[in-house]
Amino acid sequence: MKKALMLAAAAAMMIGATSANARPFCASCHSGHKDKVGPSFEKVVAAYGSVDAVFEFLNSDKPLEPKVTAFAAKKGIMKGQLKKYRKLSDEKKAEVRAWFEEQLK
Ligand code: HEC
Repeated sequence: MKKALMLAAAAAMMIGATSANARPFCASCHSGHKDKVGPSFEKVVAAYGSVDAVFEFLNSDKPLEPKVTAFAAKKGIMKGQLKKYRKLSDEKKAEVRAWFEEQLK
């Protein structure tokens, strides 16, 4: 019984930690369904066709040629962010993707 409680507490802590980590720096400019500084992820996915296509681009070394044309003038803002994203570890990139998909729900 005591062990079960401890396990539950540990699990709750882990969930807490994941959701804190899973809010990457992208959150200051993007959200799932609302435009902020940058376009909503809904618009981004619509422009790319799929979440896979978005991350294929992010994980490539292709230069930013904005597909979200309504925001193209703000390309300079995202360019630096893209550089920052590409320097992340694979683990952090996976966290960004999990968070990204979470925002689309
Ligand atoms: C400082 C603000 C800012 C941050 C932080 C930021 N973005 Fe952006 N993002 C923008 C702006 C502005 C645009 C629109 C310009 C553009 O499309 O290139 C954009 C566009 C995009 C696009 C669409 C690019 C295209 O082809 O039009 C993707 C994908 C994207 N952001 C993903 C991310 C992800 C993932 C993160 C975190 C790793 C992130 N952004 C962090 C501001 C930001």
